[in-house]
Amino acid sequence: MSDPATTTATAETVIDWSKRIDKPKPPRVLAIANQKGGVGKTTTAINLGTALAAIGEQVLIVDLDPQGNASTGLGIDRRNRRHSTYDVLCGEATLREAVLPTAVPRLSIAPSTLDLSGLELQIGQERDRAYRLRTALAPLNAGQPDAPDFNYVLVDCPPSLNLLTVNAMAAANAILVPLQCEFFALEGLSQLLKTVDQVKENLNPGLTIHGIVLTMHDARNNLSNQVAADVRQHMGSKVYETMIPRNVRVSEAPSYGKPVLVYDLKCVGSEAYLRLATEIIQREKELRAGRVD
Ligand SMILES: Nc1ncnc2c1ncn2[C@@H]1O[C@H](COP(=O)(O)OP(=O)(O)O)[C@@H](O)[C@H]1O
Ligand SMILES: [Mg+2]
Repeated sequence: MSDPATTTATAETVIDWSKRIDKPKPPRVLAIANQKGGVGKTTTAINLGTALAAIGEQVLIVDLDPQGNASTGLGIDRRNRRHSTYDVLCGEATLREAVLPTAVPRLSIAPSTLDLSGLELQIGQERDRAYRLRTALAPLNAGQPDAPDFNYVLVDCPPSLNLLTVNAMAAANAILVPLQCEFFALEGLSQLLKTVDQVKENLNPGLTIHGIVLTMHDARNNLSNQVAADVRQHMGSKVYETMIPRNVRVSEAPSYGKPVLVYDLKCVGSEAYLRLATEIIQREKELRAGRVD
């Protein structure tokens, strides 16, 4: 029989060791979602991602749109998309294997390919179909010696409330909703919020709305101002103070495979995305301190 004193000492040593190993911190996962197309989801994923990286955060964009606009807009050639998010969600590659660096320091992307549009047919009958992204994200920060841990994961969702968007919502800590300042904006929002509630109830009880960002705002246009005022009246403090103005530089940048912050740092679009990143980090602090829900 072993000496009890030795046994205790050994146990204590083990406990001491376990304390000294830093547990990898999971990233904050924000799903950028709105079932409407053309409202600024991808533009927000690319430029908010770039702005957060510029502030010093390690950011991963997960492209969950089969169109792959986030991947193309960040200059990722289709031929270089060796492993895509389709492979990841099918369980054929790890998320780390799909991650590619971008030209922006601290910003990486897991690119998508058109295969992703067939995902529902492929895994639609599987019991874990809604949790594929969540499962893939779990080991992301498992202490790779030569790869940095990510602080933020931004998931660029497709323009639909399909299985891909549900995967994003089931994996996310919070949802960020880009809302275009146009007449039907609020109508689409109520449908989106219903889906968020359903996901919360059935798949991800901790899910919250991080915030709503008004996009393509045109201060000279009465309708644009009226919509912004209505959304603020209905959604209160959930609407970020920062509005993204309609700005031609923002729409030109993707054709050069660059975020607008790289294409033209001084334009009003870049300034707005930098302000949004600061506001999001501030809200993150408040969420962590439990001051907002
Ligand atoms: N602030 C903006 N100013 C001008 N054009 C914009 C702005 N935000 C987005 N766009 C343009 O609007 C179109 C739709 O934006 P996108 O981000 O692709 O929307 P989504 O991902 O929601 O479909 C794109 O051509 C994009 O370049
Ligand atoms: Mg898009």
